[in-house]
Amino acid sequence: MGRITLDKVTKSFGETQVIPPLDLTIDDGEFTVFVGPSGCGKSTLLRLIAGLEDTTSGEIRIDGTDATNVPPAKRGLAMVFQSYALYPHMSVRKNIAFPLRMAKMDQAEIERRVEGAASVLNLSDYIERKPGQLSGGQRQRVAIGRAIVREPSAFLFDEPLSNLDAALRVGMRLEISELHKRLETTMIYVTHDQVEAMTMADKIVVLRAGHIEQVGSPLELYRAPRNLFVAGFIGSPKMNFVSGEEAGKHNAHTIGVRPEHITVSESEGRWRGVVGVAEHLGSDTFFHIHQTGLAETITVRADGEVGFNHGDTIYLTPRDEVIHRFDQDGLRIA
Ligand SMILES: Nc1ncnc2c1ncn2[C@@H]1O[C@H](COP(=O)(O)OP(=O)(O)OP(=O)(O)O)[C@@H](O)[C@H]1O
Ligand SMILES: [Mg+2]
Repeated sequence: MGRITLDKVTKSFGETQVIPPLDLTIDDGEFTVFVGPSGCGKSTLLRLIAGLEDTTSGEIRIDGTDATNVPPAKRGLAMVFQSYALYPHMSVRKNIAFPLRMAKMDQAEIERRVEGAASVLNLSDYIERKPGQLSGGQRQRVAIGRAIVREPSAFLFDEPLSNLDAALRVGMRLEISELHKRLETTMIYVTHDQVEAMTMADKIVVLRAGHIEQVGSPLELYRAPRNLFVAGFIGSPKMNFVSGEEAGKHNAHTIGVRPEHITVSESEGRWRGVVGVAEHLGSDTFFHIHQTGLAETITVRADGEVGFNHGDTIYLTPRDEVIHRFDQDGLRIA
């Protein structure tokens, strides 16, 4: 079991309140991702759940039981950090076994759990190696192994992949997703990488200044962001925002158009502009277009074969049925 409920939880450091009253429920077995800009309180929230920080007020319940004042080791949760300090002089086996040995668990049970974790994480072939003889990804897996053997009711990950190179991140992202499907344990995962959030989450919690802006599945947030902040945060490249006369035509203060919802043409279209930068990624091309009279830059995601270059005149047509409309307060118009 691993249902976690936060009820009017707040956190202040001295005079500064970094988490205003916050309510959140994470269901058993759910993969929840906290996203938001740097300093928005993601790590603080995770540390409150873990018990590494005391709440200033409010209640945290784990499986219905008040855990607000329960020490971290007794909460049945396991945290995996960004910097996964492994013991360099210990083998993989000993590193993974370490928390169980500290808990004075029976040796046979330790063996069973360590073998199980190593197998789940494809570490069996490296189990006698020292951390210095492992790749970054393998080391990260050892750190996760140390969490798995505790058989927690939930895993808490704080940017566990941010030290890894891009290719390894993608690989580990898939591994953690697969691990979640195999273990079916609640996971809370902090990242500021919205691609990680979109690809891994059952539920995304978008935070800004300690406050929840929106909670929903990745596609709910993509299709119906509640406000301009969420609209700009979810999706890559970012949604384009246009105000003024053009937005007025849609009875909105601001309209939002995702780069992938604009078609390009060399001869006709609703908007006209000049290509500033064309980023050719192979599979896609991102055009950054100026002089449209709509916004400083309009970004378009086009097929990789589309061959416009810097300085070319280009015509753009947004797909009306997926235009997002926002009022003067930046809130979505239904
Ligand atoms: N121990 C502390 N004392 C005072 N302020 C703190 C402390 N820990 C965090 N803060 C402040 O609380 C706010 C939230 O910090 P937190 O580390 O939770 O952000 P974050 O969303 O995890 O950011 P990042 O993406 O950079 O890791 C920040 O303004 C930070 O400066
Ligand atoms: Mg953080």
